[in-house]
Amino acid sequence: MTIVSQTPVLCVVVPVLNEHDNVAPLIAAMDAALAGIVWEVMFVDDDSRDGTRNAIAAVAANDPRVRMIHRIGRRGLASAFVEGAQASFAPYVAAMDGDLQHDETLLPKMLAALHDGADIAIGSRYVAGGGIGDWDATRAGMSDLATRLGQIVLRTKVADPMSGFFMIRRETFNASVRQLSAIGFKILLDIIASLPRPPRIVELPFRFRTRQSGESKLDAGVLRDYALLLADKLVGHIVPVRFLMFASVGVLGIAAHMIVLLMALKLVRLDFETAQGVATLAAIIGNFVLNNAFTFGDRRLRGWSFVRGLVTFGLICGVGAAANLSVAAVMVNDDGRGWALAGLVGAVMSLVWNYAVSSVITWRRR
Ligand code: GDD
Ligand code: MN
Repeated sequence: MTIVSQTPVLCVVVPVLNEHDNVAPLIAAMDAALAGIVWEVMFVDDDSRDGTRNAIAAVAANDPRVRMIHRIGRRGLASAFVEGAQASFAPYVAAMDGDLQHDETLLPKMLAALHDGADIAIGSRYVAGGGIGDWDATRAGMSDLATRLGQIVLRTKVADPMSGFFMIRRETFNASVRQLSAIGFKILLDIIASLPRPPRIVELPFRFRTRQSGESKLDAGVLRDYALLLADKLVGHIVPVRFLMFASVGVLGIAAHMIVLLMALKLVRLDFETAQGVATLAAIIGNFVLNNAFTFGDRRLRGWSFVRGLVTFGLICGVGAAANLSVAAVMVNDDGRGWALAGLVGAVMSLVWNYAVSSVITWRRR
């Protein structure tokens, strides 16, 4: 067999979402920065609407180093990196933004650091010589807080675990990949927290550039995803975070139930049965709204789907309550002893039922 071309040593994974104007300048900048290195770039595009894929294809027509994964119905910087890395055979893999905010001239220095024995080289804004560019005080403060929170799940000191600019040995990436949460934006933190032992890290300073074209995708969803990532890293190996949220909403629902019951009895002066019915309805609606906003915020129902969801959720909870009652009735002794255990088992059973069934019916994945 004749070898027609060399396998790249370095794969630069670039997640892109509506970055049309940045594609060609980015490839040109990498080409200049990586002279003498056999490299490839793996764009991971989440179905951009602005012609980003055409811009990539235009360069790829004359440059086989340019590759792309087109994902449909998917979102997320972290999972984009994972899939991009897995689509390459290069022994070294980098993550870099597609909006020119990361300084590509750092790539050869990162590669040298890995050659010298590091497992991960991070483009760091928070070591001497690095910087966050033109961020305002709010964004800088948020980044600082997020970095501190991140330390909870990292068992090693990292100045900038939130950086989206880094290079990693393939073996190191592989050692983390089955443990990854791959939620949201912060893949580097996820990788470090998922490794069986702390990696050898080198942090190289760089200055975060100002975005010239297109816009940032940072929004409230990114913050929620970060909270989910931290929770998943902390307790996800014991219970799923989504279930914990569902259970917390349930506890709030019981509080809401009691408040409404009290008001219906004392203020409106309804009879107990009616008041209990009103309180149950209020609790179900309240739980539905909260679960829709938070627990299943990534599959949020709107418009008619919201109404349909409320109905199915109500029916599911009704069945859950009936199951709760019958299980508890079987468990409790005739003289009423064992009520506490019976009550608890019944309640936990309906909680698990409500969660399991509503996550496949009410908030099923589309
Ligand atoms: N495929 C894909 N899917 N790409 C995405 C998605 C997505 O859901 N969301 C964002 N991107 C791409 C953008 O097109 C861009 O190339 C890159 O990911 C970074 O997104 P920005 O929206 O520009 O992020 P930022 O500038 O606010 O955040 C940066 O700062 C963080 C450090 O605080 C990024 O560099 C992060 O990587 C970095 O961790
Ligand atoms: Mn950016």
